[in-house]
Amino acid sequence: MTTKPEAPSLENLLHETRAFPPASAFAAQANAQASLYDEAAADRLGFWATQARELVSWHTPFTQTLDWSDAPVARWFADGTLNAAYNAVDRHVEAGRGDRVAIHFEGEPGDTRTVTYADLQRDVARAANALNALGVSKGDRVVIYLPMLVESVVAMLACARIGAAHSVVFGGFSADALRSRIADAEATLVITADGGYRRGAPSALKPAVDEALAGEGTDTVRHVLVVRRTGQETAWTPGRDIWWHDALESADTFHEPVWVDAEHPLFILYTSGTTGKPKGILHTTGGYLTQAAYTHRYVFDLKDDDVYWCTADIGWVTGHSYVVYGPLTNGATQVIYEGTPDTPHRGRWWELVEKYGVSILYTAPTAIRTCMKWGEDIPAAFDLSSLRLLGSVGEPINPEAWMWYRRVIGGDTAPIVDTWWQTETGAIMISPLPGVTATKPGSAQVPLPGIAADVVDDEAHPVPDGGGGYLVLTEPWPAMLRGIWGDRQRYEDTYWSRFRGIYFAGDGAKKDDDGDIWLLGRVDDVMNVSGHRLSTTEIESALVSHDIVAEAAVVGASDDMTGQAVVAFVILRGEHADRASTPEGAEAVQQELRNHVAKEIGPIAKPKRILVVPELPKTRSGKIMRRLLRDVAENRTVGDATTLADSSVMELISAGLSAGR
Ligand code: WTA
Repeated sequence: MTTKPEAPSLENLLHETRAFPPASAFAAQANAQASLYDEAAADRLGFWATQARELVSWHTPFTQTLDWSDAPVARWFADGTLNAAYNAVDRHVEAGRGDRVAIHFEGEPGDTRTVTYADLQRDVARAANALNALGVSKGDRVVIYLPMLVESVVAMLACARIGAAHSVVFGGFSADALRSRIADAEATLVITADGGYRRGAPSALKPAVDEALAGEGTDTVRHVLVVRRTGQETAWTPGRDIWWHDALESADTFHEPVWVDAEHPLFILYTSGTTGKPKGILHTTGGYLTQAAYTHRYVFDLKDDDVYWCTADIGWVTGHSYVVYGPLTNGATQVIYEGTPDTPHRGRWWELVEKYGVSILYTAPTAIRTCMKWGEDIPAAFDLSSLRLLGSVGEPINPEAWMWYRRVIGGDTAPIVDTWWQTETGAIMISPLPGVTATKPGSAQVPLPGIAADVVDDEAHPVPDGGGGYLVLTEPWPAMLRGIWGDRQRYEDTYWSRFRGIYFAGDGAKKDDDGDIWLLGRVDDVMNVSGHRLSTTEIESALVSHDIVAEAAVVGASDDMTGQAVVAFVILRGEHADRASTPEGAEAVQQELRNHVAKEIGPIAKPKRILVVPELPKTRSGKIMRRLLRDVAENRTVGDATTLADSSVMELISAGLSAGR
């Protein structure tokens, strides 16, 4: 189902006219110059070839740039060979920078580790040898289910080093979500931990792996490597389970990287689509690495003395491109923090900025809004003067949060880069260039040099400045997905069929009078909750899989804190219908169903509200009209209901809800 971009955000954004030209001191030292746009415009493919040669080391140099003959599957730099782990680690050591700190690790309980590039090289080589010894090799798939640890980065790079594709599954996903991802990728190895620290307590991970591997379709898995993090008691399957430290201890510190073709798979990352089944987004090596390094260098203005911190978890694409591949390929020094921002106190992030002298911070609007709610006296208690550039990603940032971020965190001087991209795009696509672009609160603004994006109407015609429509990408780009794992047809249908021959991103957008792009949120059945993508259909099927539920409809309702919140409408089966007739009964049903969704998908997918209703609004063809449910969920007057098969349904729903309150 496709709906028009939501009206309220459009209204707010149309009134936003503030702009912040770059400070001349910043512009003078910036990596990016306006000429970058001209270079890319003069020869787009030549521009990318230059980036690939300058920012990435090739074992065999490439001679071809783009091969689009099998569109929409692109091949970039296809006759070159390279290794992503070599680029991220070894070449820095070879260049005499082995003593440079790669990672300042801070555990939630306060334990720390300083990891240099030389340390990283030893660990990655050992882990690569350990993986080989377990029979994992080029072309295999490895599922990684870990908290934010140094080992998580090492595990990803070890896979890349041997030519095995990793598939990282966010630690907040349930055993069942893990199982389906293991099965879909036919993984042969799972790397996990006994647990991680979360809100001041150890939280177990390994039991979810055990449960997943007891489930269907996971017989391909031969071994489970377990990182010891919390030391908590852990069930063990002898022969299958192996401690990470045991495997690494006996492994050699020399490992020859496996040189792979530029188009060799680097990773699969599952993300929610408009159907119940998550999509395994496939990324390959050369083009992905090129664009990750390029964007990291220019969008974040990375310099040798910067301390960079991206707060994303490696379970998301932001963690892949801007914790692992972008920063490490560029030889950056970065902070990795295991825990939540409010453990043991709400100033923890700012304490870390002060402690490590963080100069570049990349985070999500939902985190910024949470800090706004906690109050500005909390960051004010720390010295944040080291911060010189701020980034935002994951969802549209509302102008007020942007202004707060700039003023309270950025000392009114740090430029903010609002970066639009997706799991599918692999790297940043639309963003201001710091030092070049006059930034506007709430807008991602301009396609990066080398990227072609536009906003089009229903017929794929570009809208004029001031107009709104759908965001599309009109030329292939190096880090673009190469498909959906095992399903070419779904790849073509999802992204390339809405507008023939151009990539449909699924986002609504508008162009302002300067032609700058403002993102307005998803136009499909994908929700964005705290910057995490969730599918309405996936949550609906989780709800319907519970015994007491007959039917369910899920909507993303606007939420001040999380951007959107999951609100579910359920019809109970006849024999259970009475259970929700009292407030206590409704509360119990709600709790039971929320827990069920957490078990089926993961705690992040738990509906914020579940409303038990007697009917759902449907069109004559049986389609649920989510627009009307969103009106209810957002406490608005219900809109036009004339296309409903039974127009009294909305009254029934409203009457039932007010009686239940
Ligand atoms: C949304 C995260 C507005 C958008 C990198 C996109 C954004 C989806 C922005 C991808 C932004 C991401 N402004 N919206 N700066 N960044 N989005 O795959 O709806 O987890 O389609 O990738 O997040 O989410 P994903």
